[in-house]
Amino acid sequence: MKIVVIGAGYVGITLSCLTEFGHEVTMLGRDKEKAARIARGVSPIYEPGLEEVLRAGIKKGLLKSTTDYSVVKDADVIFICVGTPSRDDGSIDLSQVETCSKSIGEQMRESGGYKVVVVKSTCLPGTTTDVVIPTVEKASGKKAGEDFGACMNPEFLREGSGVYDFMNPDKIVIGGIDSASQKVLSDLYSGFDQKFPRIFTDTNTAEMIKYGNNAMLATRISFMNELANICEHYHADVKEVSRAMGIDSRIGPKFLNAGAGFGGSCFPKDVKALISAAKKAGVKPSLLEEVMKINDSQPERMVDLAEKTIGDLTDKKVSILGLAFKSDTDDMRDSRSTVVIQSLLRKHAKVRAYDPKAMENARGMFDNMVTFCASKEECVKDADLVMVMTEWDEFKNMELSSINAPIIDGRRIIDPEKVAQRGLVYRGIGWKDNFRGGRP
Ligand code: UDX
Repeated sequence: MKIVVIGAGYVGITLSCLTEFGHEVTMLGRDKEKAARIARGVSPIYEPGLEEVLRAGIKKGLLKSTTDYSVVKDADVIFICVGTPSRDDGSIDLSQVETCSKSIGEQMRESGGYKVVVVKSTCLPGTTTDVVIPTVEKASGKKAGEDFGACMNPEFLREGSGVYDFMNPDKIVIGGIDSASQKVLSDLYSGFDQKFPRIFTDTNTAEMIKYGNNAMLATRISFMNELANICEHYHADVKEVSRAMGIDSRIGPKFLNAGAGFGGSCFPKDVKALISAAKKAGVKPSLLEEVMKINDSQPERMVDLAEKTIGDLTDKKVSILGLAFKSDTDDMRDSRSTVVIQSLLRKHAKVRAYDPKAMENARGMFDNMVTFCASKEECVKDADLVMVMTEWDEFKNMELSSINAPIIDGRRIIDPEKVAQRGLVYRGIGWKDNFRGGRP
């Protein structure tokens, strides 16, 4: 099939994986330089395995990249993958979705053939039917369900394992306005192993599945963080508690890690959008509001722990290991380390930071108030306190000989035996021995 993907962000660029199934994929964006880089096989984001996919697609002649909207005329399927950023009140800004729906419609006005417009951007229930379809219809003069099809096909990709997740989905959700639209999308995914369940539904339900998924995972994390905060006061260890809980088949082991809280481009934005949508509908989203409140307070808990461990932070050298919101990505959006660093700076600490991939994105965010280091060794040298904020393997396997300061581990990744051998104080949120016999 001929596919056009509008928006080469995390979601859009990962659709280049469809070339592995023989589909022709054209990435369409407004930035000429970015389009040229993609055409050369250079990924606009850091994502393991993605450049290999891009280059293989280019070699087979299946992957192209352009800024020329006329490619829509020839497409069978057009994916909308543009951003849906949060507004100040938590609701989502659909301006990019509207703009590209209009551009799609304008191209469709001048072309024939049945096409399916597929929304992949995360948007609230009703967006496909109430925003995308009317905009395309108006600009094209054509009728959805007759002249063209429309689907909502949410993605569940985790940054850092986007290629793997795309090729091995837990489920493929196909929300369509009619069975003809659903069939086109189902054919598009026919190369995927049949063991991956397909869920055929309407577009509103498909849109809500995405929010339900992310809100549930965020709720699990906040639940564990609240439990961790209680654990600490009762000398119970949250890691052992979560391991035991996860063995219960009704609960399962994933997304039960307590620590600095969740960040990234999805969880905070999506939970806030669902809260805003609930309020608009007159439903009180009490649980979701608490999920956000708990998450917002976790970075402050890290800073509290820092103060309890080394006292007043004024002029103390605090080394931050990890800036990305999680490992295997350079993404800093809503990263917990940003909130921790801002709080440390307010308390007049001298902050140094290192991240294997996110340094470029972090520069400029802190008005030169943070010293960015070339290596983790340089970052921790002569520190008064080391704080681990991202679960990079590089930190997990770190040689501790260069550290002579207490470590607060927001992700609980360092081997406690190794820390004990060096005689260092080692603490984190929800740990049993934080303040029992510890040596500040
Ligand atoms: C998430 C969803 O997993 C994915 O399905 C959706 O498409 C996009 O949002 P992503 O944001 O890439 O993916 O990262 P994820 O691995 O889910 O982690 C999100 C945040 O939660 C990270 O900051 C991570 O550190 C944190 N987290 C995760 C925890 O604090 N505890 C956990 O147990 C798991």
